[in-house]
Amino acid sequence: MNADAANAPLRTRAIGQPLARIEGHAKVTGAARYAWEHDLSDPLYAYPLQATIARGRVVSIDAEAARALEGVLAIITPDNAPKLQSDENKELWILQSDGIGFRGQFIGAVVAASLEVARHAVDLLRVQYEEEFHDADLRADRNDLYAPECVNAGYPTDSVEGDVDAALQAAEVSIDHTYTTPMEHNNPMETHTTVAIWNDGHFTLYGSTQGAHSLRKTLAPLFGIDADAIRVIAPHVGGGFGSKGTAHAHDVLACLAAQAVPGRPVKVTLTRQQMFQLAGYRTPTIQRIRLGADREGRLTAIAHDVIEQTSRIKEFAEQTAVPTRIMYAAPSRRTTHRLAALDVPVPSWMRAPGETPGMFALETAMDELAIACGLDPVELRVRNDPATDPESGKPWSHRDLVGCLREGARRFGWDRRDRAPRTRERHGWLIGTGVAAATYPRYRMPGSVAAIRYGRDGRYAVRIGAVDIGTGTWTALTQIAADALECPVESIVLAIGDTDLPNATVEGGSSGVSSWGTAIVAAARAFRDHHGRDPKVGAEASAASPDNPDEERLAMHSFGAQFAEVMVNAATGEVRVPRMLGVFSVGRILNPRTARSQFIGGMTMGLSMALLEHSVMDARFGEVVTHDFAEYHVAAHADIEDVDAIWLDESDPHSNAMGSRGIGEIGIVGAAAAIGNAVWHATGIRVRDLPITPDKLLG
Ligand code: MOS
Repeated sequence: MNADAANAPLRTRAIGQPLARIEGHAKVTGAARYAWEHDLSDPLYAYPLQATIARGRVVSIDAEAARALEGVLAIITPDNAPKLQSDENKELWILQSDGIGFRGQFIGAVVAASLEVARHAVDLLRVQYEEEFHDADLRADRNDLYAPECVNAGYPTDSVEGDVDAALQAAEVSIDHTYTTPMEHNNPMETHTTVAIWNDGHFTLYGSTQGAHSLRKTLAPLFGIDADAIRVIAPHVGGGFGSKGTAHAHDVLACLAAQAVPGRPVKVTLTRQQMFQLAGYRTPTIQRIRLGADREGRLTAIAHDVIEQTSRIKEFAEQTAVPTRIMYAAPSRRTTHRLAALDVPVPSWMRAPGETPGMFALETAMDELAIACGLDPVELRVRNDPATDPESGKPWSHRDLVGCLREGARRFGWDRRDRAPRTRERHGWLIGTGVAAATYPRYRMPGSVAAIRYGRDGRYAVRIGAVDIGTGTWTALTQIAADALECPVESIVLAIGDTDLPNATVEGGSSGVSSWGTAIVAAARAFRDHHGRDPKVGAEASAASPDNPDEERLAMHSFGAQFAEVMVNAATGEVRVPRMLGVFSVGRILNPRTARSQFIGGMTMGLSMALLEHSVMDARFGEVVTHDFAEYHVAAHADIEDVDAIWLDESDPHSNAMGSRGIGEIGIVGAAAAIGNAVWHATGIRVRDLPITPDKLLG
């Protein structure tokens, strides 16, 4: 089948229906098994020993008392750990040397008959360190900031067009501010878990991962085995938000522990506290934004210069200024990224990495520019909406930010807004509203394969190694398969979450359904081509996600508009958010029920970012001190009032056969800026460093 035929629009019947989650009953009745819960006979438990210094080396580990403990089966240290075959990724290269790269790093482990014994044994290990001077302090005035080769997703580190400084000088109106966002932790509900069995040169892993096949491809070279020698099983995953998008040290630890006790399952799960050191986090950022415009608010210059941290042992270069490249046009533009490599835990993916912190800064700056120009902030954005992608010059597959802003303004009652700040008060609460734009790229990763087989029961078994991290994959893929085969959803038996199924790419970059769904559509079309509408039992076909020539030709991005109303207590500085509305332009919505859940989940996470989330690094010790939910606050039900998400009725035929562009991440983007802008409107106080805590609004 050629690419055009494979990507031809699908006739939709099941797609667009609010089908309830097909795994919902299993989840609420406890029948759905998460990584820790699979029924395995005679499991063992591994518990890690962690470094209590931020930099230096382990001189010795005295294991005598631990070894004497009943129930201890193995004690693994750098002295006796199996040698890993690849040191390319130092986050994963654990127990291979005496060096310590950050506080909390694994330096040993105990395998025991119970978790309690394993943990007690670890407490009995006596470690001698040689401590070195460490540095965990992110500051803009460091003299060792460096430009990475590229930033994440392969984007150029810097992008410059025109003479930005001259354009800023010449601008009739300009603003110049620095915005900061803190270290934040993903904190999915299910803690990171891997259960490993080593048998005859093969691993079986029960994982909590965003990519079964990608996990095994990462682990195989470490152990010098073929990817086929690792089976990953992950039918249900309790959230990830990016932190399960790549392997982390606990995956390797589970495998090393399993090798110490061949044939026996070994369970590893991070405690909530350990997740603040070992499961990645959103890097803190310091972002300087300068905008220049004429008096009508037309941008003449955009400069977005980002400083952020990475770990010394592994580079992670968040693409924070990248969304700025496509948001607004200006003749002179510059975006740059500089990193400080510190003795800190390894940063990683967290929902809309890049867009989330970057759009907080840009969309706050746009609010400040609107005020400086005396313009309505919706109108300022409309005036600067580019007809083509300012970065690549390519046409958009579909861009309707203006539609989102206009529809949102209409529904939110934006025209009743008084432009001046601090004009509304009720019973000691200052009331304000704010707006911000959202964007997220449309990604599809090549390489996913789907297989379809017609069964004796008259149903189609649809097989693909995709995962559902709580987003609705089980349901959406079933709907896609039904429409692609032109049959009812009841005729589809979907299988996902296992590397024994055909290869699937990682759930990352909101690409899951675009990548897997296109493979299913291609397989369904191949099936019908070969077997017609009345197949024999046992008829099968498979196909890969087809290439899409439009991906090269067009700029594909989703957009949205976030509106927020806040109440700020004049006496205490407490911020409440009585109302949020998100309007999204994201291509076709496959399932309005699960989609709405993604959007309001993202917006809630954005509210949480705006007001609560803040991991505190105590640089003296290189320690994340806010490492539980008593100190790291995430939004709870009581924080959330009326959060609503809607979408424009559209389909993007260039994106894929379903017309969809991916929705898992865009809901968080811009939400914090909308709330911050509303706080300014309520109080007249501009908070440029997240989170917006009461102390910043008093005095
Ligand atoms: Mo998402 S942070 O790309 O898993």
